[in-house]
Amino acid sequence: MSLRLTGPAFILLLMLSLSVGANPQSLIFSHVVSPDTPKEKMAAMFKSIVESKMGEKFTVVIHPNAELMNDEEAIDAVSEGRIHFAAPSVSKFDAYTKKLKVFDLPFLFSDIDAVERFQNGPVGQSLLESMKSRGIVGLGYLHNGLKQLSANKPFKLPSDLEGLSFRIMDSDVLDKQFRAIGAIPVPMAFSDVYDALGSNRIQGQENTWSNIFSKRFYEHQPYIMESNHGVLDYMVIASNGFLDSLDKSEKRKFEFAMNMAIRYGNAVAIAKSINDRNELRAMKGIKVFKPTGKEVDLWRDSMEPIWKEYELIIGEDIIKAAYSSG
Ligand code: LMR
Repeated sequence: MSLRLTGPAFILLLMLSLSVGANPQSLIFSHVVSPDTPKEKMAAMFKSIVESKMGEKFTVVIHPNAELMNDEEAIDAVSEGRIHFAAPSVSKFDAYTKKLKVFDLPFLFSDIDAVERFQNGPVGQSLLESMKSRGIVGLGYLHNGLKQLSANKPFKLPSDLEGLSFRIMDSDVLDKQFRAIGAIPVPMAFSDVYDALGSNRIQGQENTWSNIFSKRFYEHQPYIMESNHGVLDYMVIASNGFLDSLDKSEKRKFEFAMNMAIRYGNAVAIAKSINDRNELRAMKGIKVFKPTGKEVDLWRDSMEPIWKEYELIIGEDIIKAAYSSG
């Protein structure tokens, strides 16, 4: 005897079989730093909240250490909807907006609190929307911290770095910053920096305490100046196409997950910045030195003149808002 299902029983069976077979959608989050960094901690927290709230529908797959792609490729991939999330440094969006260059201007922010005030203010918030027409939505800012200068030889004054090659993120502001002190800027992906330092292709670099420590740049850079001359923060971005595909309740849950994750990541960033600096200071053979106020003035006087060149490119109002954040 054959069993024939009709009407409601058939529909119920069909729905059950569809839901059993439906796999959660994999959402790709690509980044370039090590697991022991504020960015990975933030991404992991985001993943855990999204999956606890919507695990039947979404899973977040995190690719650290540039294992999938570098940041420039990730920005294109988010814009084109090939991946869903990334959190590149604000220095890397040149092809999409000139406004974010404000974060690269040397000595513009006195400390990370000033950066945060700017990011949370109306101008900083409006920058999150500055790439929407290109398919990229900023969900928020994440700190890494202020940048420090390091080199393979002792230095104190800007003139000590003359003729040395310094790795930079691919940013014309950073290019000018190093040219202003007579050094040679070399744009390079983050994943290539350690080897380039080891082979002496570059003799110096600028980065945060957490990146210098977690990527072991110090192994080839025993001289580190607490220069705090610029900021390396992230914009957490999502594909506009993906966000548009969500219903209202899903959107709210993603927003909640990201806000919580960023809060957590920012707390990690502050703690790691202190911890990793202390780790480096305690290392044998590593000389971390703090410039005097007068020495800082010399660095600032060499680098600050480039602000003027960017008033029209970035927008005077944006630079003013950043500067007045302290
Ligand atoms: C760099 O390229 O130095 C940074 O953007 C790496 C990072 O993501 O912190």
